[in-house]
Amino acid sequence: MVKKIVSSILYSEKEIEQRVSELASQIESDYAGKELIIICVLSGSMTFVTDLTRRIGDKVAVRIDLLSASSYEGEKTTGKVRINLDVKAELRDKDVIIVEDIIDSGVTLDYIIYHLKYQKPKSLKICALLNKPSCRWKGINIDIDYLGFSIDDHFVVGYGLDYEQQYRNLPYIGILSDA
Ligand code: IMP
Ligand code: MG
Repeated sequence: MVKKIVSSILYSEKEIEQRVSELASQIESDYAGKELIIICVLSGSMTFVTDLTRRIGDKVAVRIDLLSASSYEGEKTTGKVRINLDVKAELRDKDVIIVEDIIDSGVTLDYIIYHLKYQKPKSLKICALLNKPSCRWKGINIDIDYLGFSIDDHFVVGYGLDYEQQYRNLPYIGILSDA
C-alpha cells in the first residue's frame, strides 16, 4: 500500500473559522424567526456542522438531524449510493438545509437530495464546506446555496474529512499525496 502524507495546508484553522462564521451569519439572517432543520451528512460534516450551528444565534430555531450515506472506497466513488442512517425528523413542510463536507462527483448529494425531496420539505437548501466543480459527473447539476470554498481537483483531509477513516481530527484542511 502506498503511504500517504499531508503535503500542504490548503486552509488553516483561522481561515476555516472565518469562512464558517460568514456562512453562519448568512444562514442566521436568511432564516431569522423561522424553524430550521439542519441535516448533518455523516461522518465528514460533523466538525463543520458543530462549528456552523453554534455560530447561528438564537434568532433561528435550529434542529440538527443526522444522515449517513456511502459511495466511497478509498479515494474514488463507487457511483452507487447507500443510505446507512436516515433522518429522524419529519421534513414535510419544513425548511431544511443539507450540510455536506465536500461535493466531488456530486453522486452522493444528488442521491440524498432525491431521497429527502420525497418527504416534501417546504424548502431544501444545500450548504457545503468544499466544492470540486471540475470533478462533477456529467448530468449532475447541484445548486449550492451556501459554499465555504471552491477547490481544484485534490484529495483533501482534515476538519472532518477522512482518508480511510483517518485525518478527520486535523484542525486544518490539507492536501493528501503519496509519500
Ligand atoms: P461525491 O459523491 O463524489 O460528490 O463525494 C461525496 C463524498 O465523498 C463527500 O461527502 C466525502 O465524504 C467524500 N469525498 C469526496 N472527495 C473527498 C476528498 O477530497 N476528501 C475526503 N473525502 C472526500
Ligand atoms: Mg461526506
